[in-house]
Amino acid sequence: MNESNQNNYKIIGESSVILEVVNNAKTIANSQASVLIHGDSGTGKELFAGFIHENSERSNNKFVAINCAGIPTNLLENELFGHKKGAFTGADDDYIGKIGYADNGTIFLDEIAELEYKVQAKLLRFLQYKEYEPIGSTETKKSDIRIISATNKNIFKLIKEKKFREDLYYRLNVVPLYLPTLKARGKDIELLANYYLKIYNKKNNKNIKGFSKEVIDIFYSYNWPGNVRELQNVIERAVVIAEKEIIVKDHIYIYNNFLKDVKIKTFKPLKDALNDFKKDYIIETLDENNWNQTKTAKLLDIQRSYLARLIKELNINKI
Ligand SMILES: Nc1ncnc2c1ncn2[C@@H]1O[C@H](COP(=O)(O)OP(=O)(O)OP(=O)(O)O)[C@@H](O)[C@H]1O
Ligand SMILES: [Mg+2]
Repeated sequence: MNESNQNNYKIIGESSVILEVVNNAKTIANSQASVLIHGDSGTGKELFAGFIHENSERSNNKFVAINCAGIPTNLLENELFGHKKGAFTGADDDYIGKIGYADNGTIFLDEIAELEYKVQAKLLRFLQYKEYEPIGSTETKKSDIRIISATNKNIFKLIKEKKFREDLYYRLNVVPLYLPTLKARGKDIELLANYYLKIYNKKNNKNIKGFSKEVIDIFYSYNWPGNVRELQNVIERAVVIAEKEIIVKDHIYIYNNFLKDVKIKTFKPLKDALNDFKKDYIIETLDENNWNQTKTAKLLDIQRSYLARLIKELNINKI
């Protein structure tokens, strides 16, 4: 198992796509450049941001994550840059803000596309000069922060719509890091499933040994729109529910809706597959000819007696 970090940000994966991203992340960690992590929801954007911080020379300093989508604009400005006492009603004290607080560390700005235009300008200025003014203050402050940001949106579209500043985008996206979907990571799906099985066994004091073949097939056929986070949730629930030693399809019953849509490809000997096909095809032809065997045999270009034998052998009954 590839445990790329011994500390908090352990990245599980052996697929070439993920190993490449881990390598890039390690290289990037040694620079001071701003990183923009692009990836669908649940692909590990925050995990990789933490991984970069931990592998950088800032690792002994703070790593602070802020979700730009979760905070209203004025509060976000306050969160980032802080305020001076009396700057607004309720500002009873000076507040240092995350940028001042995490001096010499890393700030992770999640869902950067949600950042309002006004805050974008202030952030841009900070990225250019490492300087900012807390709300209500004329005093310029300095802080040495590395910004890692993340988005699951196409920012170019927002730039075109004038919702995101192009100059800020280029400042944030000095080094882009693209995270692959879980589906694209192939065998990592099983690796991660087993990893989370261990974790949730421990958490729930259970000793489940593994997954049925059918469950593994489902894992490989499913699309995982919620990526690693979704897999993690599926395993956690299965572990909680399962009473036997193996997780079977029933244990992921909460997801029966998706299971209906999953086309599981099962493999069988060619002979059986051919017989399945023969049976379906013969039934179809018989059906269209009112189960008249003479007519059907003629259309299939076989002897009537041979058709009769096939009907018996393949266990074909009139429906
Ligand atoms: N390669 C991996 N190895 C181990 N755990 C992973 C891996 N990728 C993601 N995870 C785990 O999956 C969960 C989701 O990851 P994370 O929160 O970093 O994703 P995200 O891209 O920020 O998601 P969102 O878009 O929902 O905010 C976390 O619990 C994280 O630890
Ligand atoms: Mg996230």
